[in-house]
Amino acid sequence: MKKIRLSGYAVMLLTLSVVGTLYTAVAAPTSAVEEPAAEEPAATKEELVQEGRDLYLSGCSTCHGLDLAGGSGGPSLIGVGASSVIFQVESGRMPLAAGVQQAPRKQVRYTLEEIDALAEYIQSNGGGPTVPEGDLNDGDLQLGGALFRTNCASCHNFAGSGGALTYGKYAPELEPASARVIYTAMQSGPESMPRYGDNQLSVEEKKAITRFVTYITSAEDIGGASLGRYGPLTEGLVIWVVGISVLILMTLWIGARS
Ligand code: HEC
Ligand code: HEC
Repeated sequence: MKKIRLSGYAVMLLTLSVVGTLYTAVAAPTSAVEEPAAEEPAATKEELVQEGRDLYLSGCSTCHGLDLAGGSGGPSLIGVGASSVIFQVESGRMPLAAGVQQAPRKQVRYTLEEIDALAEYIQSNGGGPTVPEGDLNDGDLQLGGALFRTNCASCHNFAGSGGALTYGKYAPELEPASARVIYTAMQSGPESMPRYGDNQLSVEEKKAITRFVTYITSAEDIGGASLGRYGPLTEGLVIWVVGISVLILMTLWIGARS
């Protein structure tokens, strides 16, 4: 009797470890997929600037001028910095389609490397704010949430889903924004959005907000309704209203039966 039981356990343990090993073997490669292909040596700064200049001349100079000083079609880009270029191009706002009230987000036209090249070229003409090295999403989530609610939610809403502003302008939904776009939006303050220099929000604070925005906009609703992601207040309300009504109905039903 006892022997059978023990061997039963042994079989179960064996099966579990086999399944576990198989699972790790199968599941492991997915994390490796994310690794960037590191074969090509990174372009030097001079090469980037040169490539950026070529891209600029063919795609941007008609509006911003051959020498970056601006023209009838667009403002001067001298001194706007790499940061503003990354924001505008990586969110697909630039190159602009003529005749719009506010540059809308569009399909991105350039690869990340081309964007870096454009940014480097414009940065080399007059300087300006640049994006800090490293992971922009490694800030403090709690702090980011608090700062987002005080600085950004008035326009972009608590869930980052955007909202209307005056004169036909709008604060866009933040969901499609990459970490770089979130960070550079704060640095460059496009349209009617305020600019948050490092004195207003430190690098750490901007990283915290970036992480928070990435977090809320990629959060999935795991089952059930999101209830507008307004948090505990709506959730509580729903529990009280729906829950209590159900309880009352049940009491009435039980009372009626007896
Ligand atoms: C059809 C004209 C047009 C083209 C083409 C165009 N832009 Fe612009 N650009 C504008 C206008 C107009 C603005 C200002 C309005 C706005 O910000 O919505 C602007 C704003 C910008 C800004 C923000 C400047 C600041 O003060 O921070 C950057 C950076 C920029 N453009 C870069 C580019 C780059 C890089 C390209 C090429 C890939 C490009 N633009 C192509 C018209 C254009
Ligand atoms: C006064 C209103 C206002 C405030 C406050 C504000 N924004 Fe914005 N934001 C805007 C507007 C308007 C745009 C669109 C600019 C454009 O179209 O060029 C924008 C654009 C953005 C984008 C680009 C979204 C995209 O399409 O990729 C991001 C990201 C962003 N804001 C983040 C923030 C963060 C983070 C804060 C707080 C630190 C903030 N904003 C505060 C008005 C605001």
